[in-house]
Amino acid sequence: MENFVNLNELSTSDIQALIERALEFKSGAAQPTQTNHMVANLFFENSTRTHSSFQVAELKMGWQQIMIDPQTSSTKKGESLSDTLKTLGALGVEFAVIRHSLNDWYQPLIAEHSDLMPRLINAGDGNGQHPSQSLLDLVTMYEEFGHFDGLNVRIVGDLAHSRVARSNAEVLQRLGANISFSGPKSWYPADFDQFGIYTELDEGLEDLDVIMFLRVQHERIAEIENTDFSPLSYHFDFGLTQDRYDHLKDTAIIMHPAPVNRDVEIADSLVEAPKSRIFQQMTNGVYARMAILDAVEKD
Ligand code: CP
Repeated sequence: MENFVNLNELSTSDIQALIERALEFKSGAAQPTQTNHMVANLFFENSTRTHSSFQVAELKMGWQQIMIDPQTSSTKKGESLSDTLKTLGALGVEFAVIRHSLNDWYQPLIAEHSDLMPRLINAGDGNGQHPSQSLLDLVTMYEEFGHFDGLNVRIVGDLAHSRVARSNAEVLQRLGANISFSGPKSWYPADFDQFGIYTELDEGLEDLDVIMFLRVQHERIAEIENTDFSPLSYHFDFGLTQDRYDHLKDTAIIMHPAPVNRDVEIADSLVEAPKSRIFQQMTNGVYARMAILDAVEKD
């Protein structure tokens, strides 16, 4: 694999291989082989989990890291992303992990076909894709259930502004899961009808295998600043309350990409409840990202 930018460009067998590789790294059944690569991490948007977990994955793979702080780099002088990356390529950087607010930031860079361009790994683009998050979500579900076919998965909340929602809806549908969506109707993108059905949150909770809550993306929702968005009302209408938790079957799991707005998407007391896999998702993120590095390395 030359670049890792969109999980939905991969075949389902390639995705399955990545999941299994991640679990092999987790169990210790697989070890990194080529350990001498140089990688740059460029995060133009804030991140704790993705940034740190790529760093940990790179260290576990034995790779050397170049840290670029976009706030102090020459992008602040107007240098383009393309020239920044070709500069790093000229210095010997072979891989670049990038988070950027621009949807599809990678497409023009790949279209350049420049030998100087490092191999690209998408750590999140605008409200487009978050493929490494999707992969770690798939690893977490597969670890739990051992399959995707027929799983009832509900994705809840800020569907319009979330790159996690779109990435996961597309890939889970391809893998055979039954997808439903809940949340504010005004945040439901019409084209999500191609992936699943919209339903009221309280409908069919007892049939779900996975319920995934999404963070309310305050930084992307200008209208929140201009409206009377109420965390309490949101939680009552679209959040995980104790009553909703109790309606889920014992084998159901609760997921959230995090950071969680506690008492908004999920009641504070339920973030670490027995059905929650939120911190397990973060642990799996390291192994999913090791599998991604391993795959781009091997091509
Ligand atoms: N889930 C996720 O992408 O978290 P960060 O924004 O902290 O990386």
